[in-house]
Amino acid sequence: MGIINFKYHYFYAKFKDMTDTLLNHRSIRKYKSDPIPNPILDYILEAGTRASTTGNMQLYSIVVTTEEAVKEELSPCHFNQGMVKEAPVVLTFCADFNRFNSWCRQRKAEPGYDNFLSFFTAAIDTLLVAQNVCVAAEDAGLGICYLGTTTYMAGKIIEILDLPLDVVPITTVTLGYPDEWPELTDRLPLEAVVHREKYRAYTESDIDRLYKEKELMASYQAFIKEHDKETLAQVFTDVRYKKEDNILFSKSLLEVLSKQGFMNHP
Ligand SMILES: Cc1cc2nc3c(=O)[nH]c(=O)nc-3n(C[C@H](O)[C@H](O)[C@H](O)COP(=O)(O)O)c2cc1C
Repeated sequence: MGIINFKYHYFYAKFKDMTDTLLNHRSIRKYKSDPIPNPILDYILEAGTRASTTGNMQLYSIVVTTEEAVKEELSPCHFNQGMVKEAPVVLTFCADFNRFNSWCRQRKAEPGYDNFLSFFTAAIDTLLVAQNVCVAAEDAGLGICYLGTTTYMAGKIIEILDLPLDVVPITTVTLGYPDEWPELTDRLPLEAVVHREKYRAYTESDIDRLYKEKELMASYQAFIKEHDKETLAQVFTDVRYKKEDNILFSKSLLEVLSKQGFMNHP
């Protein structure tokens, strides 16, 4: 095999490995008690931090929790979801301008990052690094689960983890060796989420067609019945992600952003 062919095959083999990892993603909510060896955890974190980052500023910090006592404190912030205490590692990914601002001030540069845009920029960096860590972890045979409760309970998490000014927790990931291998969850067909050249507005019949398979799935039918609802959409709007909760948690998140120094503008 010539060198070009070899390179092509090598590239293809690596590409296949990587997409295999991506295509096999499932959230893991049950973990073995085996600890994650430190070199493996460091390798995963190192791989994660190769993620693209705005201006190479790395506007994030990752808090690694392994101690039972800290997990115990964090657990109620995540509505006592079992993974927090069961997983050997809990990672809290935080948008962080604190370190960058300190560097600026120590180098005679005045930071102008006490605003919403800067928070959003740091939040983007944070989610990119989080997802890269997750993919690296799954590639290494570990299981992950994101916890969306972080943004609901950001204020309390800030207290528990001693997060300073200019730092806001964005998401949490539980990490450990899987003790379950659930079925892959469904996804909408590609045509539902991809628009060619320009956005194509969805017609009523598009919506019917694109959601049909999901709506017919036995697991979702059971879900509808369990919650005594007429449609699957109602399970989302009336049970899982309700307007009143969204308003409540929006208010508390905006207060957190103010307190952490990201809303100092008209
Ligand atoms: C930002 C975010 C927050 C999530 N929060 C939770 C959570 O609090 N609890 C949970 O069990 N799963 C959580 N998940 C996992 C989703 O439920 C899961 O990704 C989705 O149902 C698709 O399933 P899959 O990851 O197995 O493909 C979260 C996922 C994301 C991306």
